[in-house]
Amino acid sequence: MSGGAIEITGVTVRYRDVLALDDVSLTVAPGRVTALIGMNGSGKSTLFKSITGLVRPDAGTVLLAGGSPAAARRRGLVGYVPQSEDVDWTFPVSVRDVVMMGRYGRLGITRRPRAADRAAVDEALERVELTDLADRQIGALSGGQRKRAFVARGIAQDAGILLLDEPFAGIQARARPENRAGSLNPRPRRVRFTAAATAPAPDCRRRSPPPPHHASPPRPRRSARRRRR
Ligand SMILES: Nc1ncnc2c1ncn2[C@@H]1O[C@H](COP(=O)(O)OP(=O)(O)O)[C@@H](O)[C@H]1O
Ligand SMILES: [Mg+2]
Repeated sequence: MSGGAIEITGVTVRYRDVLALDDVSLTVAPGRVTALIGMNGSGKSTLFKSITGLVRPDAGTVLLAGGSPAAARRRGLVGYVPQSEDVDWTFPVSVRDVVMMGRYGRLGITRRPRAADRAAVDEALERVELTDLADRQIGALSGGQRKRAFVARGIAQDAGILLLDEPFAGIQARARPENRAGSLNPRPRRVRFTAAATAPAPDCRRRSPPPPHHASPPRPRRSARRRRR
């Protein structure tokens, strides 16, 4: 892999008259756990949505392992744990169904899971300690358990890049991903795994100290803010 696992260059995203990201550049090397910390509304989720292809930048480029977000999606390269607010928790699916979604890209035309898919799902559930709750509706879990179900989906997907949006919300200090992020690597022998996580800035929501590596939070530049007035 040349360059970074994630290479973002000059990305600008607007929602109508809101400038959410202004000329953001960032490179995350393979095999790293990286935290992105910023105030509420500073554009962390928008940056993740640009990486997953859910939001198309107005300018700039996003490369994942050298390819486009669409190509990465087809290859199942990116596992995404969305912010809780972005998920419809009333959807009638079980925890096991959610984790199986990580295998969808590999299922044949019949869309029927094979033994290998079921085994990958069981293993992922075990890794996040949700085996006992596998048949429960996803919305009937606690906040931390829901996060773990989505992490299991990324593990079952064998995603090379795992994005966790506000993974600390609802998770006990002892089990927080910044303490366990290294253990999330489903294939410790491989170095291509990259995890990126967002967290609100410590001074705006009182939380424990930030995780290991920090990237600058994307913030609209002063000049851009002036332009909009
Ligand atoms: N769908 C949307 N439509 C309009 N504005 C949005 C939308 N999503 C986010 N925003 C705005 O974009 C900015 C960045 O939001 P977001 O990426 O969610 O920040 P963060 O995740 O850091 O809290 C905020 O000003 C927010 O209000
Ligand atoms: Mg957010």
